[in-house]
Amino acid sequence: MDLIVATNRRELEEARALLGVAGRPGGGPGGPGGGERRTLALVPTMGALHEGHLSLIRIAKANADVVAVSIFVNPLQFGPGEDFARYPRTFEADLAACRTEGVNLVFAPSAEEMYAPDRQVSVSAGRMGTIVEGEFRPGHFDGVLTVVLKLFNLVRPDVAVFGQKDAQQLALIRRMVADLDVPVRVIGAPIVREPDGLAMSSRNRYLSPDEREIALTISRALREGAAQRTPREMVAATRRVLDSAPLKVDYVVLADPATFEEVAEGFTGEAVLAVAAHVGTTRLIDNVTVTLS
Ligand code: PAJ
Repeated sequence: MDLIVATNRRELEEARALLGVAGRPGGGPGGPGGGERRTLALVPTMGALHEGHLSLIRIAKANADVVAVSIFVNPLQFGPGEDFARYPRTFEADLAACRTEGVNLVFAPSAEEMYAPDRQVSVSAGRMGTIVEGEFRPGHFDGVLTVVLKLFNLVRPDVAVFGQKDAQQLALIRRMVADLDVPVRVIGAPIVREPDGLAMSSRNRYLSPDEREIALTISRALREGAAQRTPREMVAATRRVLDSAPLKVDYVVLADPATFEEVAEGFTGEAVLAVAAHVGTTRLIDNVTVTLS
């Protein structure tokens, strides 16, 4: 079956019925021809799809019968002065990529379809939404969680795939699913990088060739940091490399991957070494997972 594109709730419901994912899991006639209900995986995105997104789609395919991708540049998660207006929108190319990957359904609502003018209630990310990335982007994670919960309620997937590239976002989505009893299984996916180490991002297309060279310092700094032994040394080494390039660093942090609280000296186990920095007018984030013993 060709890719189905739904831009509103009615089309989405029709697509769900057509794809055989409506109805109760494992129960009764739901599919085309009245078979068992098929399982559905959702990959939420803001479009401008790249290999990082495509890797999520492939993981989704391996974990469910039917794959949906949402494409929605969510105004709620952009602060004043951020790049909402200039965020890359490449819808036709995104659809072509989804077709090539065998995606079954693209849900691409308008802002009007998603948000009623009189809406009031939203999801609060709690303390984790205010630290690290949240300190520099107030309200960002409330906006992310609100749209993700709405997408879950509309698309009603069994499984959803998110990238480790946005490690704090992934941690918060896991927290929301646990705290609000959301019936979705969350899968985390590894970061996909360019051959030279730059983490793939829709925002990389803002970079000039010179800026791209400077941006490479971020993954280099993280590699250097990850090669150290203690939390203090990891953060210091990362900073040292970042300071050698004309970047504006928002933070370097070694954090607990589940809570994003900074880990203390003497910590053992897995932690996330995370960076946010501005290259010219482009803000980039990246991280590596390290194990301290
Ligand atoms: P977006 O930035 O488009 O990213 C969509 C998904 O792709 C996220 O789960 C993100 O972590 C993942 N991703 C991005 N770059 C990646 C890379 N290089 N390797 C692996 N995965 C990568 O994240 C968002 O959109 C939004 O906040 C969203 C969750 C859609 C809510 O609006």
